[in-house]
Amino acid sequence: MSVLHENGQSVNGFRSNGATAGMVDGFGRRIEYLRISVTDKCNLRCVYCMPEEGMPWLRRDEILTYEEIAEVVRVMAGMGLRRVRLTGGEPLVRKDIPRLVAMLAAVPGIGDIALSTNAVLLAQMADSLRDAGVSRVNISLDSLRPERADAIARRPGTLAKVLRGLDAAERVGFEPIKINVVLMRGENDDEVADFAALSRHRPLHVRFIEVMPTESNLELSASNFLSCDEALAAVAEVDALEPVAGPPGNGPATYFSFPGALGTIGVITPMSHNFCSRCNRMRLTADGQLRPCLFGTIQTPLRGALRRGEDLRPLVRETLRIKPEKHLLVQGSSEGSGGLIALSQTGG
Ligand code: 5AD
Ligand code: SF4
Repeated sequence: MSVLHENGQSVNGFRSNGATAGMVDGFGRRIEYLRISVTDKCNLRCVYCMPEEGMPWLRRDEILTYEEIAEVVRVMAGMGLRRVRLTGGEPLVRKDIPRLVAMLAAVPGIGDIALSTNAVLLAQMADSLRDAGVSRVNISLDSLRPERADAIARRPGTLAKVLRGLDAAERVGFEPIKINVVLMRGENDDEVADFAALSRHRPLHVRFIEVMPTESNLELSASNFLSCDEALAAVAEVDALEPVAGPPGNGPATYFSFPGALGTIGVITPMSHNFCSRCNRMRLTADGQLRPCLFGTIQTPLRGALRRGEDLRPLVRETLRIKPEKHLLVQGSSEGSGGLIALSQTGG
């Protein structure tokens, strides 16, 4: 890695201007993508994500305002950030989220605003989100059977609402639309073919995700673990699967499709096949910690500096510099999770 100086443009892999501007970490990975958790709260309690009783929620003054989030994005866009995704908790439970979307869409350099949602509130908000600048959505859905979906989300009526949200996403033209399915043996392993079938006649990208261990889901993530290889094998029994490039995106998924299908089937394998070498992202938590990795304990608090009006760039550079090579999660144990209680704390 080259280390030039100020008007030579590169310090610790950070180039401040020019055609090659960008944030490059210590392992040569270009970071152009920021996942922004806008709230730690959620209107569901998915068994793998959040404890039933909820979490000790952040206080309002601990959470970044929209102006503060936009400032972080402005600073990072000047350093090479190109795409953002809003996550939570559940991003749509935060008040007037289209206002934030519009603010981020106005930041020079940001060409793509995505949303990860449980879609419970999407039917009523899809138009305003699209108008504000959301182009693509990921929707979490773990069962196509009403009583199961409600049990996994621990909230009644979930499936019906999510399906209405999914229809609205298609109607307003979000593209691509990805459906995230967390695999759980004994819960939804018999539905992988049904999920895969969704990709045949609709332009939907169904992604199977291996459950990742956190402090609050240890039992489930150990005893109900199902690998993507097993899920894919079950899908391949239904029809031939061919490897495809998949929808445009920023993520770690590998894609396949049925012959002639409108959509694709993807797998995200944090546990069985580590994909960290392709990592292109950092995360901003709702309380303003810049995290170079989903797991582990490394994070840089931006909120104090932000509120004191200080330059954030040295903090961003430092976070980039200490971005770990890979996560250290161990299947069946909370080791490597960095003491994370739930993924809703860091935005998934
Ligand atoms: N393991 C795997 N995926 C998870 N998600 C939340 N918690 C976990 C976990 N422990 C997923 C959600 C959502 C995405 C943001 O993260 O299903 O699709
Ligand atoms: Fe909420 Fe998403 Fe976590 Fe489910 S997975 S509890 S929808 S944040």
